[in-house]
Amino acid sequence: MADAPAPDEPEVLRLEGVRKSFGTSTPREVEVLHGIDLVLRRGEFCALIGPSGSGKSTMLNLIGLLDRPTAGTLFIEGRDTRDMDDASLTQLRGRSIGFVFQHHHLIGAFTAAENVMMPLLLYRNRPDVAMRRHAEALLDRVGLLPWKDSRVGNLSGGQQQRVAIARALAMSPALVLADEPTGNLDTRSADGVFDLLREMNQTSRTTFLIVTHDPRLAQRCDRIIEVVDGQIVADEAVLAPGRIGTA
Ligand SMILES: Nc1ncnc2c1ncn2[C@@H]1O[C@H](COP(=O)(O)OP(=O)(O)OP(=O)(O)O)[C@@H](O)[C@H]1O
Ligand SMILES: [Mg+2]
Repeated sequence: MADAPAPDEPEVLRLEGVRKSFGTSTPREVEVLHGIDLVLRRGEFCALIGPSGSGKSTMLNLIGLLDRPTAGTLFIEGRDTRDMDDASLTQLRGRSIGFVFQHHHLIGAFTAAENVMMPLLLYRNRPDVAMRRHAEALLDRVGLLPWKDSRVGNLSGGQQQRVAIARALAMSPALVLADEPTGNLDTRSADGVFDLLREMNQTSRTTFLIVTHDPRLAQRCDRIIEVVDGQIVADEAVLAPGRIGTA
């Protein structure tokens, strides 16, 4: 594996025996994750694949601290999250985790720069010059500096997803979770967005966990984790991950 992180790279994420049920304490209780063990280290670029309904988004929601496991333990950057209250989880999420969703969840009426500044505003009350410069530098990295003052509602799907990536990186998170980030895009835009994720991974050593239904894109990751029926059934290194512009 070309750029595999050494085993001594710090752990960014650890799941031990993580289970998730919906409808607990009702007759309709159903367990959708059945004891997930997983470790991701700094700099890893991983695909999460599996059939529809296998539990990929449920897993991402737990890892992103948007929902809590029914059982098991989840560590983010070595911190046990089990006994954290909601305020602590929100703070940890804001500092350590970035999100890119299929539907970008940007605010259409705000400009690209304002959307990128959004996560920073959780920690400061109002935008300042440093924040704006930071947002502009991120938009530059994703190739959108000329559009910084455009309303995101007026941008193309691929451009919007690039803004979402810039926003995900605003807090320099250790881990970025992406749930079908290219699911809404045509092949060319999808390739561009995927290349960008890879570039961010390589330049910042950010760990990525990317849900995708596209085997071609999965093969461009360093590691492919496959979930079927709420269990990890395969977890393998990709020997020669496709490189930018080679797929
Ligand atoms: N809030 C919920 N309440 C009840 N069941 C849920 C809930 N969220 C998810 N599920 C169920 O959990 C299972 C896994 O769903 P999940 O969305 O994680 O699958 P997925 O692998 O992301 O699928 P897809 O590839 O279609 O996005 C499904 O059977 C789904 O119906
Ligand atoms: Mg899903």
